[in-house]
This record gives sequence, structure tokens and C-alpha cells, in this order.
Amino acid sequence: MRKVLFLDEKYDAVGGTRWLMRSVERWRPVYVRTADEALRALDADEGFDAVVINPQSTVVSGAAFLAEVMRRHPRTVRIVLSDRIGQEELVRWLGPAHRRLSRSCSTSELEDALERACALRDLLTNESLQRIVSQINSLPSLPAVYAELVEELQTAQPSVRKIGEIIARDVALTAKVLQVVNSAFFGLRRRITSPAEATMFLGLDAIVSLVLAINVFSQFEAQRLPRFSPTALWTHSLQTGLFAKRIASLERQSDKNAEEAFTAGLLHDAGKIVLATALPEWYEQALALMRKEELSFAEAEREVFGTTHAEVGAYLFGLWGLPDQIVEAVAFHHRPQDAKANDFCALTAVHVANAIEHEGRAERAQIDADYLDALRLIERFTTWQQACAKMRIEPDQEAEEA
Ligand SMILES: [Fe+2]
Ligand SMILES: [Fe+2]
Repeated sequence: MRKVLFLDEKYDAVGGTRWLMRSVERWRPVYVRTADEALRALDADEGFDAVVINPQSTVVSGAAFLAEVMRRHPRTVRIVLSDRIGQEELVRWLGPAHRRLSRSCSTSELEDALERACALRDLLTNESLQRIVSQINSLPSLPAVYAELVEELQTAQPSVRKIGEIIARDVALTAKVLQVVNSAFFGLRRRITSPAEATMFLGLDAIVSLVLAINVFSQFEAQRLPRFSPTALWTHSLQTGLFAKRIASLERQSDKNAEEAFTAGLLHDAGKIVLATALPEWYEQALALMRKEELSFAEAEREVFGTTHAEVGAYLFGLWGLPDQIVEAVAFHHRPQDAKANDFCALTAVHVANAIEHEGRAERAQIDADYLDALRLIERFTTWQQACAKMRIEPDQEAEEA
């Protein structure tokens, strides 16, 4: 049975979070009223899977509490219950909280959020990697794209459409706008999967706050990673997104599904950014091993990290509350059969787009023919391949290293 700690100053026998948990059977809740009590309980028992806080007093103290939990118990999932809040508070919560749920959420919504967060944590079994990933609150952005965005924001009348287009070219910015727009802040019933739509919902003020919270790949990082080229990875990511969208359209998917395939393609290799920036020496070692032993990069990663960038990226996006279809496509893009999906979906498009994008590169990505066969799509492959070939942007020298 999983254990969850509730910090709720106002809980009583019938009210608040206790009421929420009344019919949840698979979770054992423990209730406390103060941050001190909560930290003592967590320190005394490493078995807590999640912490849920229902902040009553100030956002600052609630966020400070979660930041302390993050520091002391990084593997514990952190959820905050809050209603519509202001811009500044929103940004404050983004780092310390993995998920935000509305106070009026249902029992099943809370249970679902807890289960999914823990299922994702279990996807990544390497504990030290879990610690690293659960402390990441933004990915580094590409300097050129970032500069372009700042420039547009500084014009007299920045265009939301243009900003959406710029964001859709950057892995880090796209991941961030989707995280925010899908958090409880906007109270949207449906999940937003496209960066352009997310930008429209967020509005310019929120984009400005987010831009300030994002890091940029620094010169320093580039020097530590001689074999890793952020530019090449971004080109590969963007191209995979565009291929995935084209494949989805060829399969007569709705515009919304095609956009979702684009986003999933853009984000599919984000785990590489996490590994390359958090564990650069090991990442270099995996790249060297791939070349020396002629392994796929995923095989080399398994040797070095015990897991791959696919699980790492999915774990991060799952914690951030990105839509399931995207998390699933990221998690299984190298082994689609494990997702147990029986229809064409974003995962199918990304799996194929990625393999096509890798053709002729040092790093190979295999097509899973059995998977396509089971979906009765194997004979479509040549059509997809030809359509994507027409769209290919020739990779520069660096792209070989992505
Ligand atoms: Fe990959
Ligand atoms: Fe890839």
C-alpha cells in the first residue's frame, strides 16, 4: 500500500483533505497540521510516496516547505491543492510542486494524480536518477531561439502568433508552456497539447515570467560536453516533430491529433538534455561506448545509466503533469509495443518519425516492424518515408552527434 502525507492546517474529522481521501483504498493517508510536523514525519519514515499540501496561510511558506521536502526527500512526489491564483504565485509553485490540483478536485482526480505520479516514478527505477530528475524545474533552452523570443517580446507590439511559433521550435520552452497551461491554474477541462494553443491561453504576461524562469545553454555547458551538440539535438527534435505531424495527417488524424504528434516528436528526446546537462561525464561515456561497440544509443545508455533517455524524459514530463499521450509517446518511442496501445496514436507517429529522421546517421533507431504489423500499418511505411524525405532539412555537420 502506498503512503501519502497530508499537510493541512484546517483538516478535521470530516472536512478538507480527509474528506477527499474517504474512499481511496489503495493509499494510506497520514495527516499533520504543521510544516514542522510534516518534516519530522518524513524524516522518520522514508516510506512516504507523496506529500499533498493544502496551503491556508501564505504561498511563500507553503512553497518553502515543498522546497525543503524536495531537498531532503527528492523522491517523494509533491502535490499542492490550490484554487485560481495570481501570476506571481503560479511561478513560485512551479519549481517545488510537481502537480497542482484544484481544492475542489474529486477523490478520483486526486487518486489518479497520485497513482500516475508514482507509476512514472516506478518507470525510472534508478534512485539516483529519480533524485536528479525530480529536482529539475526547467530544461535549458537554445540560446538562439531564446534570444529571438526575447527580441519579439521587446517589440512595441509583440505578436502572440509569432511567439507561439518561436516557442514551438524550442524543446525547453514548449515543455514549460505545456506544464503551466495544463496545471490547475487555468482550470481547463481538456488538456492542451500544442505550444501555439498554450501560448494563446497563457498570454504575454505569463510568457514573460516563464522566459525569466528558464535557463539557457551556457558556453560553460558546451565546453563540458564536447561530443554533445544542443543545436543538432534541437534540429533532430524539430524535424521528428514535423515528420510525426505529417505522418499523422497522412493517416487522416484530426488537426488536434496531428498537433499532438508534433509536440510529442519535438519533446521525445528531452531526456537526453537532462542526462547531458545533469551527468555530462556519464553522457560522454555513453556516446563513446555507442561508437566503440556499435550499439544503439539506448543500448549504450542502459550500460552506463541502467536506463535510457526515453524513461528519463517521460518521468520528468509525467511529474510536470504534461498530457498522458505525450508522456506515453516519450516513454515508449524506442519500444512502442510496451505501451499496449492498439491504435494509431502520437506514439506511432513519433516512433516512425524518429526512425526515419535517424536514417543515415551515426546513431541508428530501429523501426519495430512487428508493432506496425499488429496495427496493420506496415504497408504504409514506404509512403511515410517518401513524404518525410521531401521535408528533410539537411543536417549540418554537428547533427551527426545528436
Ligand atoms: Fe530517442
Ligand atoms: Fe530521437
